[in-house]
Order: sequence, then C-alpha cells, then structure tokens
Amino acid sequence: MDPMLTIAVRAARAAGDIIVRSMDRVNLLTITPKGRNDFVSEVDRQAEREIIHTLQKAYPTHAFLGEESGRQGAAKTDFVWIIDPLDGTTNFLHGFPQFCVSIALLHRGRIEKGVIYDPLRQELFTAARGAGASLNNRRIRVSKQNGLKGALLGTGFPFKDQRHVDAYLGMLRDLMKDTAGIRRAGSAALDLAYVAAGRLDGFWEIGLKKWDMAAGVLLIQEAGGIVTDLAGTGKYFESGNVLTANPKLHQIMQGVIQPHLTDALRATVDPTDDPSE
Ligand code: IPD
Ligand code: CA
Ligand code: CA
Repeated sequence: MDPMLTIAVRAARAAGDIIVRSMDRVNLLTITPKGRNDFVSEVDRQAEREIIHTLQKAYPTHAFLGEESGRQGAAKTDFVWIIDPLDGTTNFLHGFPQFCVSIALLHRGRIEKGVIYDPLRQELFTAARGAGASLNNRRIRVSKQNGLKGALLGTGFPFKDQRHVDAYLGMLRDLMKDTAGIRRAGSAALDLAYVAAGRLDGFWEIGLKKWDMAAGVLLIQEAGGIVTDLAGTGKYFESGNVLTANPKLHQIMQGVIQPHLTDALRATVDPTDDPSE
C-alpha cells in the first residue's frame, strides 16, 4: 500500500480502537454541546489526539486540521491532514452502530489520500489519487444505476441550520417519490464511502464541513463518481453542500434539486466557516 496511506490507516485503526473500547461506557462520558444539536465527547477528543500523534510522528513537518482541535502543526507547509476522529457522534452516543473515522491528506489544496474506517464492521475504505478506491483492499466502483427508479439514495438533514429546512424538504419530497428508498444513516463520511462502494446510488446533504467530506470525495472520484455542490459546481468545500452519484444519476438528481435552490444554497460560502482553516 502507498506509504502515506499506510500511516493514515494506522492512525484510523488506532482511533477506531479507542471508539469501540468506549462504547460500553457511553453513559459515563463527559458530553459537551458545541452548538445547536451538535455534541462532542471525550472520545472524539481522545481519538483525534491519537490520530494527530500517529501522523505527526511520521510527518513532523505537516499541518493538521482536526474537527475538535482546529488547525495545528507547521504554519508553512503544502501538506494538511483533515481529520474527523468520529463521524456520527450522535449515533455513537446513542449506541446506534453507524459511525466512522475519516482522514484525508491535502497537498496544495488537492485531496491526495483518503481513509474512512468503520471500526464496528472493520471496513476500511481507502483511496489514493490516480490509484483507485478500495474496500478492504478490493477495488470499488460507484453503481451503474442510471435513473431514480430503483435507486437507493442517502442524505442528511439540515438540523443545525434551520434556514434550509423548507428547501431541503422540497428536494426530499421530489426525490423520494421516484426512488426505491432514502436513508439518513447519520454519518456523512460513511455515506460517501457507501456511494463509492455502490451501496448507495447517490447522496446529498446541506451544511457539511471539510472533515466530513474530504476523504469521501476522493473515494467517490476514484470510484468513478461525480461530486459537486447542489448547484452542480465544484464549490462543495466552500459551501458545505454536496451532491454525488455516478455521472448519469448525478445529472438527474441535480435536475430535481435545482428548482429548490435558494440564494443561500447557491452561495459558495459557508457562513460558519473559520477563514483561518
Ligand atoms: C455529522 C454527521 C452527520 C451529518 C452532520 C455531521 P459529526 O458529523 O456526519 O451525518 O448530518 O452534518 O456534522 O458531528 O458526527 O462528526
Ligand atoms: Ca462529522
Ligand atoms: Ca466528528
């Protein structure tokens, strides 16, 4: 395996072990609210520390952007690791078994490596730019589903920013009526990995952060899929709004979503983003 991916996998597995070991003492954990419907536990923080420690040992001159600790490490470097130590914290805190660790490496702003690890199923999704995407070392591809009829879609609810609820419900209603089903599993990074693996035919969500998306975006691109914002542009990192599927289904989903776009959803800036990140 690619040497940088090997280190990222080691970090993801170490974080996964911490998360799984903490599962039977969830009711004893200290949980802090970060914002509306947004919580963080000691486990998120401990897992992030472990990941950064592992990566930093191998790459002392790199920088790190972690969900819990923000930006740290070298100020001037071309390499930034983007880390979501526990994606699906709400699920984890409720004992709902759907969460993962997500780690990506950016080189000069371009995603070069991505690892998503589901510690309960021990499923390891990896991608390196130009080298394809894999699940437990077997190549994966996005699905060939070429229409909404029969498609299984994933999504996330815009529960943190209530401004988008009406627009979102319009999209949901119009997509729902033609598909085989829609899932809201509660871990955006794992949803993206599932699109890469063809388990979900498409996915959309409003209001994601870089650490929710970075590894999943590369997995999907390397598995033959398309990732855009809801308006079909490449500004998903900037806006936090994501639409992804194979090329044909992506075009169809975008056509259904388009009439529901508000000015706020067409904007390519996330108002809650920290410009220093
Ligand atoms: C959340 C999950 C969830 C998505 C939220 C994310 P967290 O991440 O990915 O599926 O709907 O937008 O914030 O907080 O559990 O790392
Ligand atoms: Ca997350
Ligand atoms: Ca998280």
